[in-house]
Amino acid sequence: MTTKCVIRQVSQHVGETVTIGGWINNKRSSGKIQFLQLRDGTGYIQGVVVKSEVPEQVWDDAKSLTQESSLYVTGIIREEPRSQSGYEMTVTGVEIIHLTENYPITPKEHGVDYLMDHRHLWLRTQKQRAIMVIRAEIIRAIQDFFDMNGFTLVDPPILTPTSAEGTTNLFHTKYFEEDAYLTQSGQLYMEAAAMALGKVYSFGPTFRAEKSKTRRHLIEFWMIEPEMAFTDHEESLRVQEQFISHVVQSVVKNCRQELEAVGRDISKLEAIQAPFPRITYDEAIEFLQSEGHDIPWGEDFGAPHETAIAEKYEKPVFITHYPASIKAFYMKPDPNRSEVVLCADMIAPEGYGEIIGGSQRIDDPQLLEERFKEHSLSMDTYQWYMDLRKYGTVPHSGFGLGLERTVAWICGLDHVRETIPFPRTLYRLYP
Ligand code: 4AD
Ligand code: MG
Repeated sequence: MTTKCVIRQVSQHVGETVTIGGWINNKRSSGKIQFLQLRDGTGYIQGVVVKSEVPEQVWDDAKSLTQESSLYVTGIIREEPRSQSGYEMTVTGVEIIHLTENYPITPKEHGVDYLMDHRHLWLRTQKQRAIMVIRAEIIRAIQDFFDMNGFTLVDPPILTPTSAEGTTNLFHTKYFEEDAYLTQSGQLYMEAAAMALGKVYSFGPTFRAEKSKTRRHLIEFWMIEPEMAFTDHEESLRVQEQFISHVVQSVVKNCRQELEAVGRDISKLEAIQAPFPRITYDEAIEFLQSEGHDIPWGEDFGAPHETAIAEKYEKPVFITHYPASIKAFYMKPDPNRSEVVLCADMIAPEGYGEIIGGSQRIDDPQLLEERFKEHSLSMDTYQWYMDLRKYGTVPHSGFGLGLERTVAWICGLDHVRETIPFPRTLYRLYP
C-alpha cells in the first residue's frame, strides 16, 4: 500500500508515489492520454494516464470513469507549473469504488430551483465548496477574535418561553404542556451571562418565521452575539469595527484561492480596515430625501435605502441613533434626546445590507419596566430579565452579527441561499 494523501498536501510528496481517494470531476482524452480531473474535497488535481505506460486494465478502468465516480488513484506527484494547482499526478493505478451513472449536475447551466432541489449534490461543485471553506474560515476568525480579546463563549438556549426581538415572527412549538418558541436571538440570556462573566459571546442558530422572500432573509440563520458589561455604545462600535476588520482580513489572508474560485474582487476586501464611517439616522434620512427617496423621519429603512447609503462608502458604515419607536424595547434612550436610542446597524458595502444590529441596553429598572408595559410584554415571563437590573445593574452593550449575510458579502454572492449548506427559506425545507 502506498502513502495515502489528500490533494491539499501533494506539495509535500513531489516525486513520491501516493494514493488519493477522490471523485472524477471531469475527464478528457486524446486517444493515447487520458486526463482525469480529480477532486477530493481538499482541492483539485489532474491525473495523467498514458496508454503506453500503464497496464491495459488501468487504461480501461480509467476509460470507464464517469463524472462523480469514486476511486482510489495511485501515481507519482510531479510539479507542473502549467496546472492551476502547480502539481499533476502521473497515474500508475486506478481502483474504482463506484461508477456513477447519469449524474444530475452536469457542467452545463442549471436553474436555481433545480440546483436547490439537488443541494446535497450541488455542494460538490467548485464554487459551492469554496463558499463552505470561506464560511468555515469566517467562523474560525470570529471565535479567534473573541477568544483573543477576553470574551467567554456562552451558549444560550434554543427553546425559549418568550420572544427577544418582537412577537410577530416566532416559531411556535409545544414544550410538553407549555408553549415554547425557537430562539430569535440569544441576547437576553447573553445579558445574564455578561453579568456573570463580564465579556461573553454566543454562536448558534436562530429562527425567524418571517414571510420575507428576499436575497437577505433566511428562516434559520446563525448569529454571533457578544455582550459586554461596563461597556457603552461608543466602546461597542469600536469592538465591532475591529472585529469585522479582523474577520475580513483573516479570509483575505487564508482563503485567497477560494476567493478567486468565487470570483471575488479581493482589493475591495483589503480596504476593510477599522475605523468605519458613522452617520446618524437623522443624517441618513436627510441624505435619502436629498436623493429623492420618499421616506419620512421615523420610518425604518428598506433594502434600497440601505444600499443607497452604503454606496457612498468603501467600508461598512454604522447608522446610529434610530428612533426608539422602530427599535427593540431593550435599547437605551440617548440621554440628550430620548426619542432616539443608543444603537447602530452596520451596513455592509456593495449592497449587502445590514450585517450587524446592536445597542447599549437599558440599565435602569424603572425605565425597563415602563418599556415592558408600552410593548405589552408580560412581566411574568421576563421576571428573570428584570432581576439583572434589580441586582447590581451596570451599563452594558452588545450586538448580533448575521453569519450568512457576512458570508454573502465576503464572497460577493447575490443571495444568502448559497452561504449555508442547507438553506431554510420561505418555501423550502428540502433537502
Ligand atoms: O438586527 P437583529 O434582529 O438583532 C438582534 O437579534 C439583536 N438581539 C442582536 C443583539 O444585539 N444581540 O439581527 C442581527 C443580525 C442582523 O443584522 C442580520 O445580519 C441578521 O442578524 N439577520 C438575519 N440574517 C438572515 N436572515 C434573517 N432573516 C435575518 N434576520 C436578522
Ligand atoms: Mg436589525
